[in-house]
Amino acid sequence: MRSFAGRDILSLKDFERAEYFRVFDVADELLPFARDRKNTDLLAEKTLLTAFYQPSTRTRLATEAAMHRLGGHVLGFSDAKMTRAGDFYQESIKDTVHMLEYYGDVIAMRHFQQGAPHEAALWSSVPIINCGDGWGEHPTQVLTDLYTTLNEVGSIDGLTFLLVGDMRMRTMHSILYAFSQFDVKAYVVSPPEMSLLPEFKAELDERNVQYEEAPSVEDVIDRADVIYMEPVVQPDYTVSRQEKAESYGLTDPAYQVTRELLRDKGRSDAIVLHSLPRMDELSTDVDDTRHARYWIEAFNGVVMRMALLSLVLGAME
Ligand code: CP
Repeated sequence: MRSFAGRDILSLKDFERAEYFRVFDVADELLPFARDRKNTDLLAEKTLLTAFYQPSTRTRLATEAAMHRLGGHVLGFSDAKMTRAGDFYQESIKDTVHMLEYYGDVIAMRHFQQGAPHEAALWSSVPIINCGDGWGEHPTQVLTDLYTTLNEVGSIDGLTFLLVGDMRMRTMHSILYAFSQFDVKAYVVSPPEMSLLPEFKAELDERNVQYEEAPSVEDVIDRADVIYMEPVVQPDYTVSRQEKAESYGLTDPAYQVTRELLRDKGRSDAIVLHSLPRMDELSTDVDDTRHARYWIEAFNGVVMRMALLSLVLGAME
C-alpha cells in the first residue's frame, strides 16, 4: 500500500481498496478523542490552512475542528473576496498556492472550478486536500459516508445503495468511483436532466462499477440497504456563490424520501445518509426514525478529517 505521508487527497478515482480500510482503521483509533471531546497533541507542530472559495458549513469547520482536536494550528479564509484571488487582481491559483504553502503544512481547498485543487497540487510543496471542486469530486465527504456505512451497518461489501439526487454532483462522482473498490450494487435515481453524464458512465463501466438507473425512489427503495441523498434543488456549483432565488422549484416526489415511504416500502433496517444541507428531498419527519444516520455522519466528518490530516502529515502510517 502506498504511504499517505505527504500525499494529496484529490480524488477517489485512484484510491485502492486497502487504502480505504487503512483510513477507516486510523479513524477508529482517533474517534475516541472526538467522542469524548478531548484534544490530543498529535499534530501540535503542524498548521492547517483552509482555502475556501465557495461557501461551506460542514467541510471547512469539520476539517478545522479535526485539526484542533489533534492539537494543531489553523488559519485560512472562507471568503475569497477578501483575498487577492477574489478582488481586482484575481490572483491565479499558482501564485496563491505559492504563498499558502509557506503559511501552512497542509492546505484544505474548496473551489468552484473543477480541477482547481489538482492544479494547486502541481504547485504546492505541501499536501492539498480537495474539499469539493465544482461538479468534480468531494473525496473527504464520501470517505466519511463510507466510514459511517461501515460503522452503522457493519460492512460495505454486499450492500445495495440507492443514490438519489443530482448525478452531476461531486459527491455522486466520488461515491461511484469508490464503488469500484467494493462489492456493492447501486441504484441511481435522478431527474432526467440531472442524470449521469455519458462520459462518466463510460468511466464507471471501465471500472466495473455495478449500477442501474431507475425512474423513482419508490421503484427501488425496497432493495436499498443504504439510501444516499443529495438535493435535487441546489445552486450552480461552478460559481463562487449563488444566493437563494426568490422562487425556485420543489423536488418532485419521485426523488423524495419521507417517513411514510420508508415505513411502507423501505427495508426495516435501511439507513439514510445525506451529506447536507438538505432542501425538500428529505423530509424532516425522517429525523426521528431509526433510519436517519446523517447526524452521526456529520460527527464522523470530524473523525474522518482527523484521520486524513494525521495520515498526510505523517503522524499516522
Ligand atoms: N456536506 C458538505 O459538503 O457540506 P458543506 O457544503 O456545508 O461543507
